[in-house]
Amino acid sequence: MVDADVVARLVDHLRHDTTDLAADDLFVPVAHFTDPARAQAEIALLKRLPLFVAHRSELPNAGDFVTRELLGMPLIVARQSDGGVRAYLNMCRHRGGRVEPETSGNKRVFMCRYHGWSYERDGGGLRHVPYENSFGPIERATQGLTPFRAEERHGLIYVDLSNDARRSLADWFGTDVDAQIAPWRLQDSQIVIDKTFTMDINWKLVMDGAIDIIHPRFLHQNGVGKLIETNVGVFKDFGRHGKHFGARSRLRSMARDGGALDGGSKYIGSNLVLYPNAMMIGAPEHVEFWTVWPALDSAARCTVQIRFLVRSEILDEHIEKRVHKSWEILEQAAMQEDWPMERWIQQNAEAWPHGSFRYGRSELACAHLHRQLARDLDGAR
Ligand code: FES
Ligand SMILES: [Fe+2]
Repeated sequence: MVDADVVARLVDHLRHDTTDLAADDLFVPVAHFTDPARAQAEIALLKRLPLFVAHRSELPNAGDFVTRELLGMPLIVARQSDGGVRAYLNMCRHRGGRVEPETSGNKRVFMCRYHGWSYERDGGGLRHVPYENSFGPIERATQGLTPFRAEERHGLIYVDLSNDARRSLADWFGTDVDAQIAPWRLQDSQIVIDKTFTMDINWKLVMDGAIDIIHPRFLHQNGVGKLIETNVGVFKDFGRHGKHFGARSRLRSMARDGGALDGGSKYIGSNLVLYPNAMMIGAPEHVEFWTVWPALDSAARCTVQIRFLVRSEILDEHIEKRVHKSWEILEQAAMQEDWPMERWIQQNAEAWPHGSFRYGRSELACAHLHRQLARDLDGAR
């Protein structure tokens, strides 16, 4: 699952004590992590982009649905009889009730509990209005559930709150990202871990912390810092998206020994950043899938959801145990080391929202994300 050129480039870096480098450092104003106006602009931007909403396994069969709040937008995402997915605003056309109160289930009809208006799961059309003769004419064609563009690719279900019909998910990912995701076979995978955390940290700091390649040996001295190499990486630029490849310590000894590099790709970790707020971290038996959501009312809060996906064909008790073990390692590093540090950064930024943070030349993946945000928000080049 790792491109052959990546193994060669990483080994070359390990042999020469080098890493991929950008031309310059990137400076991001500290205020971008604290300023309410900036936070609102980011949320408005996210609402114009395709966003991950659910994994296929959460609604595998016709009629399955989940309800979600995506940046405050209440949604029903429903598997249609033809196998496709649709998303609707979870809001009744009559006087605004939640049409579906459950978080998941299987239904043919969604009925609002307030006065009993009902809607088709397939297509969202208005189906029945009790006491219809006591209303004026109700134009059924326009009174179905408000639709949002939803699409599934590689088992990832995305919703576009801006309903931009010119942009397909295939366009949004692009062929390079498609080729990176496809081998993981996420459409045939199950969710083994699904955890959500709300924290008093700006969402970009949580993204940064998971992408950052120059901190493991310092912040995770006695943990993952021993297993992965710090400040060695290959970065691939896929337009808005990008992917970092890093080396596990074993690859360094292979590089040093100078022998054959067969199987070297086993000792490479990767993080595919799916702009704007998702990440896929590849591991031998599972994929860690992160989404990080800014809070609507504070620049200083976010919600991170981490799912571990495992291909159904290899999923057994043994693998499940190992994946849970991986989760414990991640949870410990994140909860005891990464997130407390990010929380300090947030507190510091609020105390002193001046100057800039510096992303060094080797921090390509972090810089890539912030450069794209600047392009989309400030028209930067
Ligand atoms: S608000 Fe839904 S039926 Fe009245
Ligand atoms: Fe970390």
